This record gives sequence, structure tokens and C-alpha cells, in this order.
Amino acid sequence: AEGRLRDGFGRAITDLRVAVTDRCNYRCVYCRTGTSGGSYSELPLAAYARMVRVLVGLGVEKIRLTGGEPLLRGDLPELIRSVRAMRRAFDDAGQPTSDGGPLDIALTTNGHLLAPIAKDLKRAGLDRITVSMDALDEGTFARVTRVPGAFGRVLDGIHAAQDAGLAPVKVNCVLFRGWNDDQVEAFGEFARRENVILRFIEFMPLEEDRTWSRDAVVTEAEILERLGAMWPLLPLTPNSASETARRYGFADGRGEIGVIAPVSRPFCGHCSRLRLTSDGKLRTCLFSQVDHDLYGKTQEAVADKELEAYIRSVVRGKEERHHIGEAGFAKPSRSMVQIGG
Ligand code: GTP
Ligand code: 5AD
Ligand code: SF4
Repeated sequence: AEGRLRDGFGRAITDLRVAVTDRCNYRCVYCRTGTSGGSYSELPLAAYARMVRVLVGLGVEKIRLTGGEPLLRGDLPELIRSVRAMRRAFDDAGQPTSDGGPLDIALTTNGHLLAPIAKDLKRAGLDRITVSMDALDEGTFARVTRVPGAFGRVLDGIHAAQDAGLAPVKVNCVLFRGWNDDQVEAFGEFARRENVILRFIEFMPLEEDRTWSRDAVVTEAEILERLGAMWPLLPLTPNSASETARRYGFADGRGEIGVIAPVSRPFCGHCSRLRLTSDGKLRTCLFSQVDHDLYGKTQEAVADKELEAYIRSVVRGKEERHHIGEAGFAKPSRSMVQIGG
């Protein structure tokens, strides 16, 4: 047997992020230009399920559903149910087994459509939820998302997820200087009050237009300095080597925050991630210049064995790391709304 899926640097691929649509009901300033009409490419949910099943057979254990906005697919619980029925193909020691236990299934959403469907998602077998939220006052929220009056819906979505038993909810905040960098302290307060795990994310050059610059990035150092001035923070032990966030607890025991710092502290060395775009292409890195048409392969009516060989060869070419901020950095061919973060 060839064992579990590994790249050319020996990194085991255990995490898969699946974008189930590239449509979005928001047009966040750091993500979408608002000028692109968008070529809506999405597949029947059963097509994602087949590709996920093959990848799980190769050692994927964590599935994150993203988009675009994944809840625009109203039938998402169906996909969650079919993924829930899959089991890990390897045990904790990395040995092949017919039942290595359940997968970890998570969802990243902007929260707009979450409240009415939170219970269904939980019932379908969703384990965890992350809500993207970039401001805590209505004015800033509307300026960043370019959707008026939506702030309250996202807040309701977070509460509904907590009520549905999807706690602890994670909240992701991308800081973009000049737009929402004044929100850091308010988010710290929010994490403590609402019992959510707040993660600040450094802005990466993945937007549809070219607004990224080093100056627009609010760095981990700056975030920690500002939070530390308000509350003493204690570093928490990482849950795993491939964890993207550096985590901190408030010294009084109330609340947790994390910083995801791909720009100032790249975590590529322990990358365990593979991505599937909404049109069924495999991407070995957020910043890949090429993608690989796995869905196309499945349409050639080939056996699982052949798909596995194809995936193994694609993954062997996984990039060592990103080159953000270096001379010659080239923006990837696809923006975040297609790759899903
Ligand atoms: P869990 O640990 O499963 O909760 O997920 P996570 O830590 O990967 O968090 P999440 O899926 O919410 O991703 C948060 C953000 O981290 C993404 O939106 C990206 O901005 C960034 N990120 C995640 N994975 C990568 C990666 O492989 N490379 C880079 N450069 N950034 C990433
Ligand atoms: N840099 C960092 N994070 C980003 N996201 C979207 N665009 C960027 C970017 N350029 C985040 C969203 C969401 C997740 C899907 O990706 O805010 O949390
Ligand atoms: Fe905003 Fe996410 Fe939609 Fe991009 S995909 S516009 S970050 S909500």
C-alpha cells in the first residue's frame, strides 16, 4: 500500500477545503471589486461528495465547506449528511483501517443566511462553524460588506449557531487598514462577552483587484500589542502543528483569541491543506498559479484507483510555501471568492 497522501516535502495532507459555490451575497471591499459580474461555476453537490470520498480514502480527516457563500446552496445539509457518513481511512498511528472514526466537518460562512438553517446544519452532522465578520458597528460593517443593514442578521446567525449546539463558534476578522483596523479592541470585548473564539487574520493579496500593499496589513505584532494593552494575554498550547492560528487566553480565564498571520509569520512549513474550487479543480496552495481538473477526471468515467493516482501526482507538486511580499510575487490566477479561503 502507498499509505496516506503526502506531498513532495513529506507533509501529510489531512485537511480539505471545499468551495461549493463562487457566488456571494456580500461584496467585501478587500475581496471583490464589485465590477466583475462573475462566472458562476458550481457543481451538483453529489459531485463534490464523490471527490471528497476519494480524498478521504487517501487520508483527509478534516473537511471545511466554504465558498463564495456556501449557504447560498440551500441543499447544503444534504452534502453534510453524505460527508458525515464517511469514516477516516487511517487510525491515529497512520495505519490504514476501515473505520478510523468520524471526520471533522466545519463550515465557513458570512452568517447572513445562517439563523434559519443553523439547527438543520447541526442535525445533518456539522461539527463546527466559523463566521466571517469584519466589523462590530453597523456603519463600518455596511461599508466593508457593501450591504446595508446586514449586521444584525450576522449577529443573529452567530447566536442561532450557539443555540443549535455548534459552540464554540469561531469568528474570523480580516483587518484591512483604513477600513476596520479601529475594531481590534471592540472585537476583544466581543470575544469575552459573546463567548466566541475571535481570530484576527492578516490581509493577503488575494483580492479581485489590486488593493493589497504591505501598509494595508495590520500585523500580528500590532494586534497583540493593542489587545495586550487592554487585557493580559497568555499563549495557549497549539492543538496541532498545522494550526494556522496562534491562540491566546485572557489571563482572567474569560475568552480566547487567535491571530492568523500568513504575512508576518508564514505557517507553510506545516501546511496540511488541499483545496477544491467550486468548479471542481484541485489547488495545492492558496497561491498556486495552476489548478488541476479533478472534476474533469471524474467525468471521464475513470475508476477510483485512477483518481487516486491522479491526486497523488498532483499533491507531489504542492508548493513549498507562498512568496507574499517578495520580489517577483505573482498574484494567483484565482481570487478568494473562488478558492474559499
Ligand atoms: P480550524 O483550525 O479548522 O478552525 O480552521 P482554520 O484555522 O484553518 O481557520 P479557517 O478555516 O477559518 O481559516 C481562517 C483563515 O486563515 C482563512 O480564511 C485564510 O485567510 C487563512 N488560511 C487558512 N488556511 C490557509 C493556508 O493554507 N494558507 C494561508 N496563507 N492562509 C490560510
Ligand atoms: N486575506 C485574508 N483573508 C481573507 N478572506 C477573504 N479574503 C482574504 C484576504 N485577502 C477571508 C474571509 C473569510 C475567509 C473565507 O477568508 O474573511 O473569513
Ligand atoms: Fe466577503 Fe467572503 Fe464574500 Fe469574499 S467570499 S465577498 S470575503 S463574504
